[in-house]
Amino acid sequence: MLVFYCALSTCSNFKGYYVIRFDAVIHFAGLKAVGESVSKPLLYHDNNIVGTITLLEVMAAHGCKNLVFSSSATVYGWPKKVPCTEEFPLSAVNPYGRTKLFIEEICRDLRNSDSQWKIILLRYFNPVGAHPSGLIGEDPRGTPNNLMPFVQQVAVGRRQALTVFGKDYSTKDGTGVRDYIHVVDLADGHIAALKKLSDPKIGCDVYNLGTGKGTSVLEMVTAFEKASGKKIPLQIAGRRPGDAEVVYASIKKAETELKWKAKYGIEEMCKDQWNWASKNPFGYGSLESKK
Ligand code: UD1
Repeated sequence: MLVFYCALSTCSNFKGYYVIRFDAVIHFAGLKAVGESVSKPLLYHDNNIVGTITLLEVMAAHGCKNLVFSSSATVYGWPKKVPCTEEFPLSAVNPYGRTKLFIEEICRDLRNSDSQWKIILLRYFNPVGAHPSGLIGEDPRGTPNNLMPFVQQVAVGRRQALTVFGKDYSTKDGTGVRDYIHVVDLADGHIAALKKLSDPKIGCDVYNLGTGKGTSVLEMVTAFEKASGKKIPLQIAGRRPGDAEVVYASIKKAETELKWKAKYGIEEMCKDQWNWASKNPFGYGSLESKK
């Protein structure tokens, strides 16, 4: 599924009718389940890559050459060191990651072919939380792949325990470390990127969207227990194949050039996620629809 958020403006044409003009497109949609991408690579390449090419063609046909694209920290593969800077070598460790990497390369080729294009690639780290209103949140189909949607479903009683993938990493408590970022901060990062598109120096440029802080699985669980008042039972299991040990962002470039910095910490992420989860224990559906 492709979802586009478009910056729109209107102007009147020579007959006096109002026509819609697209000034910029934020392309932040695509399939994102790593395991599914391994079993259905063509689906991922078709949806993510072909979908993006179609979008770029339509944009060009309408004279709109300003794009903000949701890439992912997955393009750093298994980083040899942290924090990850935008200059790190790129690699993909699964088909999902490859689609993000290929789309980045397509965008670079496009800009090289036509200097009218202005493209910002945003490399998301681990988006979590929900809108503070409790009205908008994540509702994955089937078993959640990612940590916090799973934790949330344990807290509301839909799942019995969280499986912790690996407790033998060389980290503070043995569990994997990631850079979790509140979805509201992430959304603000897109506004900053849209504004940046008007900078004449922009060609095809990349920015990390993270907090620059690493948090372990157990630290996230403890923060969520505190925010929700619920105990999250744990089952310790082996490492999940393909998982990196520690991944977090260097945020200097986004801070300096986009004038953007994440405001929220893991307490707010967990508080807002619990607010959404407790108000909507079955997401956007009912208990019946989730059976
Ligand atoms: C994953 C994807 C990444 C994608 C991102 C989308 C992999 C290898 N990477 O990132 O490509 O861009 O999701 O949001 O799948 N964990 C548990 N138990 C769980 C789930 C996760 O212990 O049930 C641990 C993981 O081992 C990891 C941490 O929690 O240490 C975060 O995992 P997850 O939320 O899946 O994100 P990533 O693996 O970083």
